[in-house]
Amino acid sequence: MGPGDEVAVPGYMWVSCLSAVIRLGAIPRLVDIDDTFCMDPADLEAKINERTKAVLFVNMSGAPGHIDKIAEITKKHGIYLLEDCAQAAGSSLHGKPTGSFGDIAIFSFQLNKNMTSGDGGMMMCRDEHLYKRCFAIHDLGYARNSEGRLDPSEEDFQLWGVGARMSELAGAMALAQFRKLDKITGSMRNAKWRIREQLSDIKGLGFREIPDPKGDSGPFMITTYESQDLRDRFVDALRAEGIRGPEGSLTCIKMNEWGMHWYFNNPSLVQKRSLSKDGFPWTHPSNAFCNDMSYEHGLLPGCDRRHDTGALMAVASCLSDRDIDDIVTAYRKVARVILG
Ligand SMILES: Cc1ncc(COP(=O)(O)O)c(C=O)c1O
Repeated sequence: MGPGDEVAVPGYMWVSCLSAVIRLGAIPRLVDIDDTFCMDPADLEAKINERTKAVLFVNMSGAPGHIDKIAEITKKHGIYLLEDCAQAAGSSLHGKPTGSFGDIAIFSFQLNKNMTSGDGGMMMCRDEHLYKRCFAIHDLGYARNSEGRLDPSEEDFQLWGVGARMSELAGAMALAQFRKLDKITGSMRNAKWRIREQLSDIKGLGFREIPDPKGDSGPFMITTYESQDLRDRFVDALRAEGIRGPEGSLTCIKMNEWGMHWYFNNPSLVQKRSLSKDGFPWTHPSNAFCNDMSYEHGLLPGCDRRHDTGALMAVASCLSDRDIDDIVTAYRKVARVILG
């Protein structure tokens, strides 16, 4: 992967998804999202071209979207499928775990994820050779032998590393957290779907489509509204009812407060920033095709609309029955006033 290659990335994601592509010298081709708030398979089909090397599917906000359809498309076109499961550890689609659909999957254990070790993460690979290359790159650029010593002997694993090793201590914490993952996600999923079900009859209050609710890991409830004005007034009123965290928290937000999760809010992308003086990778001759590519607002109508009319509420893993009742009562009260 490098200059001349494109990687398909959804317009609702996180900055890491873009920087992983750009630092390698490849160019991100943005793909719209659908009602699942994940990559839209139809838009992906329309954007795949002879330069597309890989698709980076991001399992956003806790649940996978149509990853099964995306996997069929990548297989048909013979391109790599990378799964970003940073926000969706413990989720699945019709019994198949998130992270098992593609060639490489990553998980994040950063502090506000489904499970955390403070920082760090995990990578999974289907192919042993690819795994060894990924392992070498995350480390010092070389494979390690069974004793953990660097082994520079094999040509395929003579690379350059990024020094992203996770510490033993963080690893131990991740193992302990992993044992709690089902409990954490079970509790968030249960609370979220109890709330959703009790709000399902409200006209004008829409919900993110989750193709398999049993596979939702549950950390966020995304709602949608018929206009930006209704969304804004609804969220303001919810906060006034106490559905919020401390000042400045992102517990209950309008989607336009979700910052760089939306493509056009990434200045480094929109301004095509570079790590080097020569403007690499944007200026590389093999990437000349990107000269007239723009990443500004307006590129992806599905993202733009959901940014303008969507809202997000974080679901804690420790909500009591009383908390759930309070949340439902607040939504119903606000809906009566704002949605009529
Ligand atoms: C979708 C997504 N991808 C990647 C990452 C990067 O994870 P980390 O911060 O552990 O590098 C995050 C979270 O930070 C994320 O939300």
